[in-house]
Amino acid sequence: MKIAAIVGSTRNDSYNLKLAKYIQSRYEDQFTLDILEIGQLPFYNQDIENDPPAEVTAFKESVKDADAVLWVTPEYNGTISGALKNAIDWLSRVDQVMIGKPSWIVGASMGALGTVKAQAHLRDILFAPGLSSPVLPANEVLIGSVHEKIDAEGNVIDEGTISFLDDTVNNVIPWLEKQTTVRN
Ligand SMILES: Cc1cc2nc3c(=O)[nH]c(=O)nc-3n(C[C@H](O)[C@H](O)[C@H](O)COP(=O)(O)O)c2cc1C
Repeated sequence: MKIAAIVGSTRNDSYNLKLAKYIQSRYEDQFTLDILEIGQLPFYNQDIENDPPAEVTAFKESVKDADAVLWVTPEYNGTISGALKNAIDWLSRVDQVMIGKPSWIVGASMGALGTVKAQAHLRDILFAPGLSSPVLPANEVLIGSVHEKIDAEGNVIDEGTISFLDDTVNNVIPWLEKQTTVRN
């Protein structure tokens, strides 16, 4: 199965980017994870949505090609980042490449609650008509105090987090595969 990862933080040293890379390598035998760039996308503008810049077209094509999307979200002021919302707005329009495509959400923050508010908002957005992306209930991956759990090299150094990720992958991947079969 081919999964596209969309990371909501665009900074070079992002813990969420490190988390995406960790998932990519730890579960490489179970699925292919293609980590997409969103920092180069212009602000969504309805005036250009039918003839968008090449970066937007390429981004949408990558999502269209994937069987599922993994959202790796930070929490900014109790919600998702502006960069992530912008990427989602592009995906929701014209060819609407997310419709029916299943999503998996994970997130890491320095706060104790580990992106719980951002993930709640993200789920709500994914259920908007222009996206209509199903999400498996429960199985939330909320990584709080991430600066104590992922080291500078991107290794997850907290055993509880690793085994929780393993358990979640065991639940979510078969579900994503089932959704993909239903779609095809
Ligand atoms: C603009 C901004 C707002 C933030 N708001 C929150 C927040 O609401 N909750 C939280 O737990 N952390 C918050 N943080 C701290 C982030 O959890 C921390 O910067 C984290 O490293 C961001 O993810 P990243 O490493 O992937 O960039 C905020 C950080 C920034 C820059």
